[in-house]
Amino acid sequence: MDRLVAMLRAAGDPTRLRLLLLLRQAELTVSELIEIVGHSQPRVSRHLKLLGEAGLLERFKEGSWVFYRAADRGKGAELSAVLAALADPAMGEADSQRLAHVRGQRAAAAAAYFKANAGEWERIRALHAPEKDVEAAIVKAMTAKPIENLLDAGTGTGRMLEVLAPFAKRATGLDISPDMLAIARDRLASAGVSHAQVRLGDAYRLTFNGEGFDAVLFHQVLHYLDDPGAAVAEAARVMIPGGRLVIADFAPHELEFLRQDYAHRRLGFADKEVEGWFAAANLAPGAVKTITAPASGKLTVKIWQAKAGAA
Ligand SMILES: C[S@@+](CC[C@H](N)C(=O)[O-])C[C@H]1O[C@@H](n2cnc3c(N)ncnc32)[C@H](O)[C@@H]1O
Repeated sequence: MDRLVAMLRAAGDPTRLRLLLLLRQAELTVSELIEIVGHSQPRVSRHLKLLGEAGLLERFKEGSWVFYRAADRGKGAELSAVLAALADPAMGEADSQRLAHVRGQRAAAAAAYFKANAGEWERIRALHAPEKDVEAAIVKAMTAKPIENLLDAGTGTGRMLEVLAPFAKRATGLDISPDMLAIARDRLASAGVSHAQVRLGDAYRLTFNGEGFDAVLFHQVLHYLDDPGAAVAEAARVMIPGGRLVIADFAPHELEFLRQDYAHRRLGFADKEVEGWFAAANLAPGAVKTITAPASGKLTVKIWQAKAGAA
């Protein structure tokens, strides 16, 4: 009873309700929330604290950034779902528009980074990770069975398409950056890879009609996204039963400069978070491989695998 009353009290304030409804839509930092709701930092932080104490929000600190999101399990999640269903859609419309604006600004900043660095990407790519070992581990994870139809989500300059094409009957590389795709097209043409193609598109909104993929890869893509779990769920939606999803990304790290200089949003991912995306997308988790870097200054890469439905 006390717990429920505390939750209702926390949610029973117009600004806190707005924050809660926003945080059901996206994982956001305090500064992003301030921009959307237009209140001062101390006020927003105080509201977030109350919502967090009542179990309606989750907070996690990563380097110098703190992210908030609506609780996705337990009584807090149940209550926020009920409140969202009861809320008049018109009530949150202005906030949703401002949220879209904030996300648009962020996406534009990342797009500008990739546009400016498309030609340099091969060099940058090698800066962070033990590339050869990572590529070998991805090939091993993805080619346990012959690949019929591969999707390389966030293909960038198409390196992984080139690496995996010999093992796939068909392959598609998808990316939101036309500049990256121009390089990927050249790469595939020079390598004589004719059964792989690239498409402009958004990993959050895949538009493959009736085409099922039996292998999907996210290689060094998810740490740029503000809702990686949504991209994983979208990938799961276009996979056939028994299809394999492979995520290659960084283990949690503290290299804050990657945010400023390389447009990263997240500083790696913990196994638990990735397992949460898999569970939410109805994917069965598989083996996890850790590749540590012998050279100093390089990051540890993890390769997470999951399987869609029943084979
Ligand atoms: C690190 S880069 C390329 C990684 C590439 N997989 C590789 O192996 O080199 C990340 C790529 O993700 C793309 N990207 C970012 N957000 C995206 C989205 N929402 N949908 C599709 N691609 C996206 C960027 O344009 C960029 O080319």
